[in-house]
Amino acid sequence: MATSQWWQKAVIYQIYPKSFNDSNGDGIGDLPGITAKLDYLKELGIDAIWISPIYTSPQVDSGYDISDYRVIDPRFGTNADLYHLIDEAHARGIKVIMDLVANHTSDQHVWFQQSRQSRDNYFSDFYIWRDPQPDGSAPSNWGSYFGGSAWEYEPLRQQYYLHYFAKEQPDLNWENPLVRTAVYDLMRFWKAHGVDGWRMDVISGISKFTDFPDYPTPNGEQFVVGDLHANGPRLHEFLQEMNREVLAPFDMMSVGEAPGSTARNARQFVDQTRQELNMVFTFDHMDIDADPMAPFPQKFHSLAFDLVKLKQSLSEWQNSLFNHGWNTLYFENHDQPRVISRWGNDGQYRYQSATAFATVLHGLQGTPYVFEGEEIGMTNAHNFTLADYNDIEVTNTAKMLGTTVMGLTATELLAAAQQISRDNARTPMQWDNSANAGFTTGQPWLKINSNFPTINVATDRQQTQSVFNYYQQLIALRHDAEWLTAGEYQLLLSNDPQLFAYTRTYAGQVWLIVANLSPEIVATTALQAVLGEQKITQLLLQNYPERQRLDAPLQPYEALIAKLG
Ligand code: NOJ
Repeated sequence: MATSQWWQKAVIYQIYPKSFNDSNGDGIGDLPGITAKLDYLKELGIDAIWISPIYTSPQVDSGYDISDYRVIDPRFGTNADLYHLIDEAHARGIKVIMDLVANHTSDQHVWFQQSRQSRDNYFSDFYIWRDPQPDGSAPSNWGSYFGGSAWEYEPLRQQYYLHYFAKEQPDLNWENPLVRTAVYDLMRFWKAHGVDGWRMDVISGISKFTDFPDYPTPNGEQFVVGDLHANGPRLHEFLQEMNREVLAPFDMMSVGEAPGSTARNARQFVDQTRQELNMVFTFDHMDIDADPMAPFPQKFHSLAFDLVKLKQSLSEWQNSLFNHGWNTLYFENHDQPRVISRWGNDGQYRYQSATAFATVLHGLQGTPYVFEGEEIGMTNAHNFTLADYNDIEVTNTAKMLGTTVMGLTATELLAAAQQISRDNARTPMQWDNSANAGFTTGQPWLKINSNFPTINVATDRQQTQSVFNYYQQLIALRHDAEWLTAGEYQLLLSNDPQLFAYTRTYAGQVWLIVANLSPEIVATTALQAVLGEQKITQLLLQNYPERQRLDAPLQPYEALIAKLG
């Protein structure tokens, strides 16, 4: 597979705009705030920014509920602010990726406001409407990702509409060509203003199994979220059409969020010959700590970290897409907690564990995504009480405490939320140790992590052990090293519960990436045995400076990238 596209050598930085940098003191991050930090991002070395939704929105789901796709929400600034940001980013060689949320809109969008009025207006079929069952109940037992039924009754039409997420986020009807045309039009609109590509929200959900068959409910669940929620029969037809209409002619990069994708079916999205998307975000490796047998809400019953499972999942994707497509590489985003708190160590070994996880991720084939704050080792918010959460996943669950569907006490929910909730990633960016971490001069929209006096950009960059500095080196290496882009992956020691070790082979030469992802000291005997005669000939990057050879044990969270010979 050719590896000459800009995004194959790129590192993309995700900005969660509400929490990045507030320029006007209203407590909410904004576009001028992002523009003010472009030099910082340039110093980090990233090639593109992906900005989570900034369009007009009632913010029921933090902007993933859009009521006007073409107008910037005044909380974040104006369209002119965005055009300025794009110009300034481009002037620094940074591309701009926007979020395309087209599986659903806000219920406040004019399309939905019209659609709900009657069964026979222009917008009637923009959404997915079904008649009630004879007893008046919902058309099927499909559940919403945020809890409860995925169907909501609309008295005006005397019908139910479908919503995979909150009831304020009705799903668009992609069967209707008018919907698809409207989506392609808005993509062209933003291209005309300089946008370089798209991150596509729940793109695997846009084609529905339109007869909505009931899920079998072995445990008697009332509402179910399952396989039928993704990969509907016309999905690839729609994506090929979008590619023909917009992505190819306007040369836009695309990365689709694809719940339900597997290492095997992902090829259907990203095999270049199929002309669909450049990359997809999978959930496979993020789900290794989800307990499939747990009661609702499953998300809040996480299992202990299992490195063997993580390696299996990442390796399966590396192997399946090699020569067939392109991977995304991520541990964090606005929907995931901080990786060092989730699977690593955010205390004594915070620097080591942040850099170790970064090393094993950025050493893989694919495009790495860095989520704001990951580059300084920000941690989960251990200082939140249940009342501090804004994330609808937590607040909806909290409302159900004490009901029969909930298997959690308030104390257990809080512990789970501190471990896994999305707000762990959404706390404001920690710039320095001044009031409100330098994020705002006002009242921050979400509580700031209380560790900001010690964990912040200014402090990190002054330290010898600087996570930022390590990311700079990793990113620079990705730009330079062709073997990182094109080299073949081979996992070593697949069953080792502490070491993540693999090689990349390119043009007859071999590089080793290894990390001890545990707080213990680990012998390298097994590693040396599999490497045989091969020894380190050059160290390219390491988070413990003393090492020169492999014969000493690996220290807690020690990681390195080396050339073998
Ligand atoms: C995925 C987004 O990443 C998430 O934040 C959002 O809640 C859902 N899609 C619904 O848009």
